[in-house]
Amino acid sequence: MADRTVTVTDNATGKKVNLPVLDGTNGPSTIDIGTLYKELGYFTYDPGYVSTASCESKITFIDGDLGLLRYRGYPIEQLAESSTFLEVCYLLLHGELPDRQTFDAFESRLKMHTLLDEKMRRFYLGFHNNSHPMAMMVATVGAMSAFYHDQIDVHDADSRESAANRLIAKVPTMAAWVYKYTVGQPFVYPDNNLDYVSNFLYMMFGLPTMDYQPSPAFVRAMDLILILHADHEQNASTSTVRLAGSSGANPYAALSAGISSLWGPAHGGANEAVINMLEDIVRSGQSVSYYIERAKDKDSKFRLMGFGHRVYKNYDPRAKIIREVCHQLLAELGENNPHQQLLDTAMELERIALEDEYFVARKLYPNVDFYSGIILRAMGIPLNMFTVIFALARTVGWISHWKEHMSDPYARIGRPRQLYTGADQRDYVHIDQR
Ligand code: SDX
Repeated sequence: MADRTVTVTDNATGKKVNLPVLDGTNGPSTIDIGTLYKELGYFTYDPGYVSTASCESKITFIDGDLGLLRYRGYPIEQLAESSTFLEVCYLLLHGELPDRQTFDAFESRLKMHTLLDEKMRRFYLGFHNNSHPMAMMVATVGAMSAFYHDQIDVHDADSRESAANRLIAKVPTMAAWVYKYTVGQPFVYPDNNLDYVSNFLYMMFGLPTMDYQPSPAFVRAMDLILILHADHEQNASTSTVRLAGSSGANPYAALSAGISSLWGPAHGGANEAVINMLEDIVRSGQSVSYYIERAKDKDSKFRLMGFGHRVYKNYDPRAKIIREVCHQLLAELGENNPHQQLLDTAMELERIALEDEYFVARKLYPNVDFYSGIILRAMGIPLNMFTVIFALARTVGWISHWKEHMSDPYARIGRPRQLYTGADQRDYVHIDQR
């Protein structure tokens, strides 16, 4: 019998069941309901998984009330201040910060996988050049399952490691080539003399006709954005990857499903939606208060993009960090930068919303997407590439969770049940009698 239990009593029959309480390192304990159906004949019902833990994990911890985010126990503020995205990749994948020798070996291994199979180029050439970059990412990452399917044994640790390294190494090349294709410029091949983030910016903005050196401020800002977006426990896209992978599916195909989920405006698509919203506000000439009122109006579909979060009922700690970088970067660009008006609008929106009872009562605060879009815009990243950058960062989170699930000897295929409210049994009527 577990140390602690919770007793559920069916008041209709008086039947009781004692359910074990499982304690974690941090955060709420959970009630193991595995025997509930067998003992009492009930399923639990929790659409959106508001109060449901889908798994046990050791990767990321979030406390929504305190606004805490830790990767493998390390606070996001410390990692943002002192680490690099590639070091965070190692930490998320392996659970510990690497020493210098281990990190160098990890970086060298990744550099051996930055190229795509040349036949992958044909996938890009098949798209309209106005295709949304996220549609192209879904397709090309999924297509990797056609190139590496026979080389992956999801039950073998080395094979899982190889798939993880391939994805982390290749996704920057794939993301940069998506951008190059949409702007009609030639693909730029990776330069392994550059660090991970510089190489990505080089493949994005480099041209065969001239030298390109990414500014250190841009490299640092992009590195920070990738660190902040690297993982976030069981969000919609990560849960998608874990569920898809639980059937033993190819990890590249499982990540393609995760990219599809991230694309939604309620999730990773919010950074693009924030800029669209801010630009609409600026263009409309309407006051920010007018838009705040629309966001509060139940009859209006309008929501403040970049506000609210399923877990954070306090400031998103990532938003706090990225807000400062936003100001620093725009200050460096100087007053005449074309993005200052967007930032000023965002700051006014934030100020008014944080004082408004509607948002305060619902604990709706700015989330990471509220500011990331402004930074990416200031870096010259086109709007339709914002969620691709998010997907690039979250690749390590997705594949770390996939690895965690697939390396669990007790892992089973995810198969939720339902509350069925459709038609009761009825007999077929031939079409001539209907
Ligand atoms: C990300 O899960 C993750 O961890 C995601 C993420 C990650 O790193 O993976 O953090 C990244 O996706 C951040 C969230 C980005 N999305 C947006 O910024 C889109 C705008 N936000 C909302 O769509 C919403 O806040 C969600 C989707 C983020 C959360 O939705 P919930 O938890 O289902 O909350 P809800 O819809 O039940 O809202 C509760 C109340 C409702 O009002 P009432 O019914 O109580 O009257 O708050 C209102 C909502 O109408 N509300 C908003 C609002 N968000 C919620 N009202 C106006 N504007 C908003 N943005």
